[in-house]
Amino acid sequence: MSIPFIDLKGQYLALKPSIDARIQRVLDHGQYIMGPEVRELEERLETYTGARYCITVSSGTEALLIALMALGVKAGDEVITTPFTFVATAEVIVLLGAKPVFVDVEPDTCNIDVSLLEAAITPKTKAIMPVSLYGQPVDMDEINAIANRHGNIPVIEDAAQSFGAEYKGRKSCNLSTIGCTSFFPSKPLGCYGDGGAVFTSDEDLAKAMREIRVHGQERRYVHTRVGVGGRMDTLQCAVVLAKLERFDWEVEQRINVGNRYNQRFDAFGVRRVVQRQDRTSVFAQYTIFTEDRDALQERLSGHGVPTAVHYPVPLNEQPAYKHLCCPDCTPEASRVAKLVMSLPMGPGLGDEELSAVVRHVAGLRNSMSPRIS
Ligand SMILES: Cc1ncc(COP(=O)(O)O)c(C=O)c1O
Repeated sequence: MSIPFIDLKGQYLALKPSIDARIQRVLDHGQYIMGPEVRELEERLETYTGARYCITVSSGTEALLIALMALGVKAGDEVITTPFTFVATAEVIVLLGAKPVFVDVEPDTCNIDVSLLEAAITPKTKAIMPVSLYGQPVDMDEINAIANRHGNIPVIEDAAQSFGAEYKGRKSCNLSTIGCTSFFPSKPLGCYGDGGAVFTSDEDLAKAMREIRVHGQERRYVHTRVGVGGRMDTLQCAVVLAKLERFDWEVEQRINVGNRYNQRFDAFGVRRVVQRQDRTSVFAQYTIFTEDRDALQERLSGHGVPTAVHYPVPLNEQPAYKHLCCPDCTPEASRVAKLVMSLPMGPGLGDEELSAVVRHVAGLRNSMSPRIS
């Protein structure tokens, strides 16, 4: 049996009539940039998340950049974040001349360790940017409370992996000053290219981000601030609109698959990323911890089980970033980076496939023991 890591083709086939019709409509009206689907999608996402404003943008990376620009982050500022994330999170901070201040992660969720956050705040802290990793929201009430105690520092949720997840009954992307998500094809809500969105309930920030998205333009050819070329294509908005038709069902399925994996792996004593009681992960990735990862990945591949590592090297150890901080100042991030391994995940992952993945992981671990734990 060969199991896809993510079954995008199966998802397309299930939604083919709606996706095709939506794309055809764009081809018919021809408004490829800022066509009616752009605002339609933003309205749908405002309703979905509960945020007052949604602004679609050209990628998750651009969403983070635009959010930081709207907050006025500039050279000499500091932005607190996690080193255990995709590089875009820190990249946008450095692009603006600011410094990423890395705070270590929790060993069980791999999300930023909120108990270490306060000690990292300085007079230069301009924003706090936690990541809701693997689709599980961070402890946002606690982060917001710390930010408020220190003079209302703005909090940006990097929700690139967590669109559709919930924290204490509230939707990810609507948990802090600004939420940023990605519609990269493999994300829980993905388009067929690059795409993303920023969310806020602050009117001034929404205006700033809407203008920054289009070269800082307040009205045609009047550029009141420096911006970027950051629009999301109408065609990509059309794809996401079609995918929203069964997104609730897909989120439910992802949670079912995640919970079934949890039960099965717990029974086999396989360590996995832990989900906290007060939040619902959307399982952008299903991730376990294992030693001898390379050997296990190779053997799983031989059994038709694809795997991936998110992420093998924390950002404070990356060549382009390590001069910005001490390479060993976030020991948990360095430790989990050597252990994490993601398994096939998606709303269409059937019982038979899931059982095969669990059987192979547990069986191979036993045959390779005692080095695997
Ligand atoms: C945590 C995180 N932040 C930012 C991004 C960037 O999103 P995009 O690829 O849409 O630019 C990603 C994408 O993988 C991500 O996982």
